[in-house]
This record gives sequence, C-alpha cells and structure tokens, in this order.
Amino acid sequence: MESSEQKGQKPRPPPGPLPAHVAIIMDGNGRWAQQKSLPRVLGHREGARSVRRIVTYAREIGIRYLTLYAFSTENWGRPELEVGALMMLLRDYLEDERPTILKNNIKLSTIGATERLPGYVRDPLVELMRDSSDNTGMTLTLALSYSGREEITRATRALAEQVARGELKPESITADMVANRLDTAGMPDPDLLIRTSGELRISNFMLWQLAYTELYITQTLWPDFDESTLNEALRAYQGRTRRFGKTTEQVLPPDASRPAPTR
Ligand code: IPE
Ligand code: IPE
Ligand code: MG
Repeated sequence: MESSEQKGQKPRPPPGPLPAHVAIIMDGNGRWAQQKSLPRVLGHREGARSVRRIVTYAREIGIRYLTLYAFSTENWGRPELEVGALMMLLRDYLEDERPTILKNNIKLSTIGATERLPGYVRDPLVELMRDSSDNTGMTLTLALSYSGREEITRATRALAEQVARGELKPESITADMVANRLDTAGMPDPDLLIRTSGELRISNFMLWQLAYTELYITQTLWPDFDESTLNEALRAYQGRTRRFGKTTEQVLPPDASRPAPTR
C-alpha cells in the first residue's frame, strides 16, 4: 500500500498517464455476503456503496470514461427476488446519486437493452441521462440488461436493413461502420478492464470494444473494492506495454527513458 493511502491520508493515483477509459466487471457481491453468512442481497447493497466510492474517486482523479457492468442480459435469469432487489438498488442509486452526479459534472449514459428495465428504474434513469447530457467532467456508462453479442447483433441488423433498402453495398461495410452502430458509438474503447473476484472470463461484456484492452483481474470482491484497489489496477496498467500487434521496438520511443515494462 502506498504511504499516501495510509490511514487518514487522501488516496492518490500513481503518478503517470492514466487510462482514458476504465471498464469494470463488478463481480463478487454474492460471495462477499455468503462469506459473512448474509443474504446475497446485502452483498449487492454493499456493492452499491463501492459504486458510489469508485465513481467519485474516478471523477476526482480525472478518468474520462468509466463504464460499469451492473446487470447482464443473462442476470435476468437469476431468482426473481434477487432481480427485484437489484432493480430497487439501482433505482435508489439513481435517486440518491442524482445531486452528486450533477454537481460533479458527470454525464450519465447506458449501454444495453434498457427498455427491458422496469418503469421505476427507467424513468429516473432517462431523466438523469437527459439532465446530465451536457456535462463534460466524466462519462459514467452503466451497462444494464447488457449483452455484447446482442449489441453486435443489433448493429448487424441495422446494417442489413440499410443494405436491404439499397442504401449500402455489403462490400462497403467497414469496422468503423459496425462500431458506429454499437451502443458505445462515439466513445473510445476501454484502455483498462478490471474484473473483481477472480473469474478469468469476460461474461459477454463489450466483446467488440475490448479487442486491445489491458485486462486486470483482482481477487478482491466488488464490495471490498476501494480507491487503493483501483490505484493498484492503475499501477499495473502503467507497467504494461500496449503493442497493438506491433513489436516493442516499434511502440516504444528509441530513447525510452521510462522504466522497463514488467510484462
Ligand atoms: C455481481 O456480483 C453483481 C451482478 C452480477 C449483478 P454477483 O452477484 O455475480 O456475485 P457472485 O459472483 O455470486 O459472488
Ligand atoms: C458478470 O457477472 C455480470 C456483471 C458483473 C453484471 P456474472 O456473475 O453474471 O458472471 P458469470 O455468470 O460468473 O460469468
Ligand atoms: Mg458473479
């Protein structure tokens, strides 16, 4: 742990360039609760506190885009009581955090099939998205009822419709045209993906956008994730060499005076 993160000190990010876009698979709420012999729902409630903490901190340190995987399409298949509790926590989050989001100049956006959300979530969500749409401090994107495959399928359908109408030739379809029809259109791809609680999988998250994203998996469960765990992930990110298919020599400046990459 950094000395600045010790008791009573304000946490600070590691010096060096920060990723512009951080995406997080917030996993492990259930296990956090089960380890304490508590109902899973209490793990989700604690997880919502982590969301508040991390949104505030990310904004403070200057992350431009923060994308949080909050609820997948597959999560609709969980027990009805758990889904209901998650929806109510989401509604509470939107109501409670509204003043903070607006005050901190955060723009709220979503990816996923948000039309599937119940009205008591959708209404405050749409309202806050509208009221924060001109904010420029940070874009907070919630992935809700989200599936990467579904997202790509929707984009494909939109292109197919243009072809069917004779507006587009199949051979002129480009990767950029696909990207522009995804829910993330206009947003840079994530630079860093964090997954909490140790699973080594993507779970249908941002399948297209993660093509060259740096992955960071921590054993920390989402309710225990805090400023210092985010700082650890940022530090790991700063030690990576992003090659995008090239050789190290090609991507590092010839007089590379930076520390040698760790991996
Ligand atoms: C993540 O925690 C929250 C959601 C998927 C909504 P989990 O509920 O998946 O927690 P685990 O994986 O069972 O511990
Ligand atoms: C991924 O977590 C979805 C969210 C964090 C919202 P899951 O808990 O649903 O993923 P799996 O089932 O372990 O792959
Ligand atoms: Mg899980």
